[in-house]
Amino acid sequence: MTKQLPNLQVALDHSNLKGAITAAVSVGNEVDVIEAGTVCLLQVGSELVEVLRSLFPNKIIVADTKCADAGGTVAKNNAVRGADWMTCICSATIPTMKTARKAIEDINPDKGEIQVELYGDWTYDQAQQWLDAGISQAIYHQSRDALLAGETWGEKDLNKVKKLIEMGFRVSVTGGLSVDTLKLFEGVDVFTFIAGRGITEAKNPAGAARAFKDEIKQIGRAHV
Ligand code: 5RP
Ligand code: MG
Repeated sequence: MTKQLPNLQVALDHSNLKGAITAAVSVGNEVDVIEAGTVCLLQVGSELVEVLRSLFPNKIIVADTKCADAGGTVAKNNAVRGADWMTCICSATIPTMKTARKAIEDINPDKGEIQVELYGDWTYDQAQQWLDAGISQAIYHQSRDALLAGETWGEKDLNKVKKLIEMGFRVSVTGGLSVDTLKLFEGVDVFTFIAGRGITEAKNPAGAARAFKDEIKQIGRAHV
């Protein structure tokens, strides 16, 4: 059976709508998933989702809200603008995640999903509760600020990612990824690699997205 290669997602964390849309236009067709990034959503709101949806009617669009509360309302607001997936922070309560899930599925029954964003402290008991609540996507995140403070990707991250996959999650990974970092995940069944600055701040963003795609194929091939 042919194994599905990991998806590539671009995160648009620009501080203004124009920057995000310019980047989306240059790389949108090179990637599988387009993310309305937290930074930009906080600046401009879910109008970003609406513009991305109108530009890319057939792509998966994620609203990276990192929603902590009022899950049903936030999910509804983003789903009506065209989001397929929306993120909830791992410290959100189970009712927040469940109401977010219901809202996004009600509006987008075919593709609507909630993803749990893993930051800081969380436990595998909580992870089981997310699965029990019908949420099977998790995003393993190295925080931008932790990376800037000297944190690096390593074995400890791989072990957590592998354990979450064993539990039944589709696991995306993100946080300062470069083409070179992807090698670390060779042999690990990552669902989606999410890259922001590694693509959008490259001299040639479309070329950078293609380089990520080529490396994803390369590490996928090494494990057939
Ligand atoms: C930060 C995010 C970013 O979208 C994610 O980390 C990807 O961006 P980058 O590759 O630039 O780190 O959600 O909280
Ligand atoms: Mg993001």
